[in-house]
Amino acid sequence: MRVLGIESSCDETAAAVVEGEGLEAVRLLSNVVRDQIAEHAPFGGVVPEVASRAHVRHIGLVVKAALQKAGLGPGELDGLAVTLGPGLIGGLLVGLSTAQGLAMATGLPLVAIHHMEGHLVSPFLQPENDFRGFPFVALLVSGGHTLLVLAQRFGEYRLLGRTRDDAVGEAFDKGARVLGVGYPGGPAIARLALGGRVDAVPFPRVLLDKAGCDFSFSGLKTSLRVFMERLQQTPRPDLSLGDIAASYQEAIVDTLVEKSLTACRRCEVNTLLVAGGVGANVRLREKLTAAGERFGLRIGYPPLNLCTDNGAMVALAGLQRLKLGQGQRVASLSLDARPRWSLEEI
Ligand code: KG4
Ligand code: ZN
Repeated sequence: MRVLGIESSCDETAAAVVEGEGLEAVRLLSNVVRDQIAEHAPFGGVVPEVASRAHVRHIGLVVKAALQKAGLGPGELDGLAVTLGPGLIGGLLVGLSTAQGLAMATGLPLVAIHHMEGHLVSPFLQPENDFRGFPFVALLVSGGHTLLVLAQRFGEYRLLGRTRDDAVGEAFDKGARVLGVGYPGGPAIARLALGGRVDAVPFPRVLLDKAGCDFSFSGLKTSLRVFMERLQQTPRPDLSLGDIAASYQEAIVDTLVEKSLTACRRCEVNTLLVAGGVGANVRLREKLTAAGERFGLRIGYPPLNLCTDNGAMVALAGLQRLKLGQGQRVASLSLDARPRWSLEEI
């Protein structure tokens, strides 16, 4: 089965083709991502209206390139998949209209995908992973979401924890703005933190003293802002910006690691899959690997380039759903985007 996946829920316009029998036997035929860093960088963050317009400009070319790189015409596909939500409404509508147009023109079945289910299955696109399917705990860490989910089987997800305020990607992005190191903040802070001292500043690990699996990152961001304001008044020659970035990143990473361990322990599951943009963070991977070795956990990630938003994860979730007979033909033309949509409702 060959499926084209389309993703446009935030600030990447993306399309990809996968081929295979299902989650555990799949091959990526093409993967095209047009990011919008140049468009949003002047504003220091994603501007929804700017994102919608950029998606309109790029989606046709991105879909065409994904098909060309796969060496396929639309007639050689078996189905289409598109992100229906959650995300920015303008971007979602661009992807959905494109997919509906393709469905109408080709007669192919179309399946609607929850963006976070896409992230959740993305580690299956890493052939080097040694995990063995369900059940697993998924740590989903992106610009808009921070979730710990028990995935009992494909399509059956129980929310174990979520952020009560800012998403972890937001903590990186807003932190980067405070440090004046640009957008997107995650890679910028990670670069700055290289060689910095992780224990230079004792930033708070919020909710680590609480038993549950929820997160909270807005207090951390505020403490960074307050720290930087004080630093302006009382300079500290013993501290570099790298030390501050490394300490800030460490507070985020420690929280993610501890809560993930709690979730695995609670569910008596020994596989943890990590996905979403922040899953590319090298320090997070280092500390999770160490924790995995200590506690006998298998840890899986997507390939680095499939941590951030992409069409491949949407195509893969779509392939699995199409296999289960969930593709719609005529009905797909009346689908509506879902900017707010819980993973447990799908
Ligand atoms: O999954 P994603 O592409 O988009 C959403 O679905 O939101 O995640 C984007 C987020 C941004 O906040 C970005 O700063 C963060 O992922 N990010 C990182 C890294 N690469 C991307 N955060 C920390 N370290 C990284 N290396
Ligand atoms: Zn995402």
